[in-house]
Amino acid sequence: MTASDTLFRPIDLGPLHLENRIVMAPMTRTYSPGNVPNQQVIDYYRRRAEGGTGLIITEGTFIDHPAASGYPNVPAFYGDAALAGWKKVVDAVHAAGGKIAPQLWHVGAIRRPGVMPGGDTPGHSPSGMARPGKVTGHAMTQQDIDDTVAAFARAAADAKRIGFDAIELHGAHGYLIDQFFWDGTNQRDDAYGGDLAARSRFALEIIRAVRAAVGPDFPVIFRFSQWKQQDYSARLCETPEELKAFLMPLAEAGVDIFHCSTRRFWEPEFDGSDLNLAGWVKKLTGKPTITVGSVGLNADFLPDDGTADFRAAQPASIDNLLERAARDEFDLVAVGRALIANPDWANQVKEGHLDSLKAYEKDMLKTLA
Ligand code: FNR
Repeated sequence: MTASDTLFRPIDLGPLHLENRIVMAPMTRTYSPGNVPNQQVIDYYRRRAEGGTGLIITEGTFIDHPAASGYPNVPAFYGDAALAGWKKVVDAVHAAGGKIAPQLWHVGAIRRPGVMPGGDTPGHSPSGMARPGKVTGHAMTQQDIDDTVAAFARAAADAKRIGFDAIELHGAHGYLIDQFFWDGTNQRDDAYGGDLAARSRFALEIIRAVRAAVGPDFPVIFRFSQWKQQDYSARLCETPEELKAFLMPLAEAGVDIFHCSTRRFWEPEFDGSDLNLAGWVKKLTGKPTITVGSVGLNADFLPDDGTADFRAAQPASIDNLLERAARDEFDLVAVGRALIANPDWANQVKEGHLDSLKAYEKDMLKTLA
C-alpha cells in the first residue's frame, strides 16, 4: 500500500473534482492588515496549491456581522477590498491547479476585549466559559440571529460569485455556531436552547440559508468538533446513535461534506471500534468526510530504527493513515501544521520523500512563508 494508491487517488464529491485527498486545514494567520488579504496572503496559498494540495480551506474569514471577528489582522469576507483580495487568492490557486474554499467564521463570545468593533458582543448567552482574557457577551436577540444567518448566506453567495470551489462553515472549536451546540455555553430557554436538537436550530437555519443562496450544486462543507478550545474534553455526543441524531438534520439541511475536527486522527471515537470521528460520521451519515489531527507530526519525524514495524507501530505514522485511507474510512485528509512547515507537503509525500520534510515549530507562525 502506497500513498499513491490511497491519498493520491482523485475523487469526485458531487461537482467537486479533486486531484488527490490532501486538504489544507483552515489556519488563522493574522497577516491581513485592514482585514484585506494582500499579495503575501495570495503567495502563501499559491505555494500550497503549487505544492500539490488537492483542496485548500482558507483561514477563518469573518462574515459581515458586527461581532464576527475576534482577532486583529484576520481577513474579512465582505466589502469590496477584502473580496477583491480573495478573488486574487482564488485566481492564483486555480492557476496553480488547486481548488479552494473559504472558511466562513463568526467567533461569537470568544474575542479579545477591545478588538473591532468593540462594545458589547452578541454571543450565545452569558456562560462564564470564555478563556481568561476573553469576554462573554449578551444572549443573541432574534434580530442578532436573523442578521447572522443572513450574513452567512451573503458570504456564501459571494464565495460562489468570485470563483471559490466550495465553502466551509466553521461550526467547531467553541466559536459561535458551536456555542449554540454545546450545553457548556448554550443556556438559552427559547427555541434555540434545550436538547442538542434544539441547540442545532441556529446551525440548521444557517445551513438552509446558505444552501438557498448558493443553489443545489455548490459544495457546502461543515466543520464540527467534540472538543472546544475552552475545554478539550467536552463532548457533544457520547454514542454513535447520538452522533447520527445530531448530524442527519444538518445533512438534510444541505451539508455535503463533514469536516470532523479531532486533535489526533488515530484516536477511536467510541469504545469497541477503532473508527475515528470522520470514520463514524461517514458510516452513520453516508456523507463524505474529512479527517484531521496531527497528520505528518510526531512519529513521522522520529528517527526510524530501520524496520517497517517501527513506523507501523507509531499511531501517528503515515502507515496508520494510509491503512485507514485505503479502506475508505474517510475521503479526505486535512493537514495543518505540517503544511505550514512544508508548503509542498503533498508532493513530498507523494514522492515518498518523508525524510526531507521539515518538522513544524511554533516559531514558523512568525512569518507567512
Ligand atoms: C488552527 N486551527 C483552526 N481551525 C479552524 O477551524 N479555523 C481556524 O481559523 C484555525 N486556526 C488555526 C491556526 C493555527 C496556527 C493552527 C495551528 C490551527 C485548527 C486546524 O485547522 C487543525 O484542525 C489543527 O491544527 C490540527 O491539525 P494539525 O495541525 O495537527 O494537522
